[in-house]
Amino acid sequence: MNPPVPAEPPPVPAEPPPVLRAEGVHKTFPSGPDTIEVLRGVDCALRPGASLSVRGPSGGGKTTLLNILAGLETPSSGTAYWGGEALPARGLSSLARRRARYIGMVFQAYYLVPELNALENTVLAARIAGRSPREAEARARELLDLVGMGGRLRSHPAQLSGGERQRVAVARALMNRPAAILADEPTGNLDERTGETIMDVLLNAAREAGASLLLVTHNREFAAMTNESFRLEDGHLRPL
Ligand SMILES: Nc1ncnc2c1ncn2[C@@H]1O[C@H](COP(=O)(O)OP(=O)(O)OP(=O)(O)O)[C@@H](O)[C@H]1O
Ligand SMILES: [Mg+2]
Repeated sequence: MNPPVPAEPPPVPAEPPPVLRAEGVHKTFPSGPDTIEVLRGVDCALRPGASLSVRGPSGGGKTTLLNILAGLETPSSGTAYWGGEALPARGLSSLARRRARYIGMVFQAYYLVPELNALENTVLAARIAGRSPREAEARARELLDLVGMGGRLRSHPAQLSGGERQRVAVARALMNRPAAILADEPTGNLDERTGETIMDVLLNAAREAGASLLLVTHNREFAAMTNESFRLEDGHLRPL
């Protein structure tokens, strides 16, 4: 009789790739006759379901890094990835629809459409991602309620305060249940209590959807609510 063949060990489950990743990212910008080197070899990975915060001085490159991870700007060298896939070095506009589904972005400057009211601005994100208007409107109302803007659905950005616009921008970012939420100082214009509400909304939305959250903030307390904290300074991202 042959000796029993030893059972093969089960394969080691492959770890899922990070939702977003930067590898050796450099970014320079022209500045008059000179160039400024804003990012000098940044590596970071946002794991599925994890949250990460970035602090650092004004002008340190935080928004630039978010834009590169969102595929809105190309690095001068190095690579950004969505899942395991490297983003193209050019032709980023071709990513628009996929970006709308994959990434929810709360821009530092909000970028609400001035001609549209709060409800329409929020619904727009879903329309760009190709979703039906009816489904989109129900979710938009729910999210605007959650951020405390349920009573201002018909107000246009010009009629809203900075903090109110910011909250509409948060609702809009969550519309498509993105894999990654990139929030650039989403509480920058809010009083302490509203800021806490918005942080709760972001963290809960991320938890419920299994989404990852990358938060840029100057607020230490909010930064401490994330799984990992970093500081971006002199072009380098360092753990805190
Ligand atoms: N398109 C651009 N052209 C030229 N310079 C730029 C451009 N975008 C950003 N910069 C410069 O890059 C540097 C980093 O800007 P960035 O907006 O990323 O900083 P930040 O860390 O987000 O700052 P803040 O905390 O004030 O929002 C700044 O000096 C800025 O002037
Ligand atoms: Mg910024």
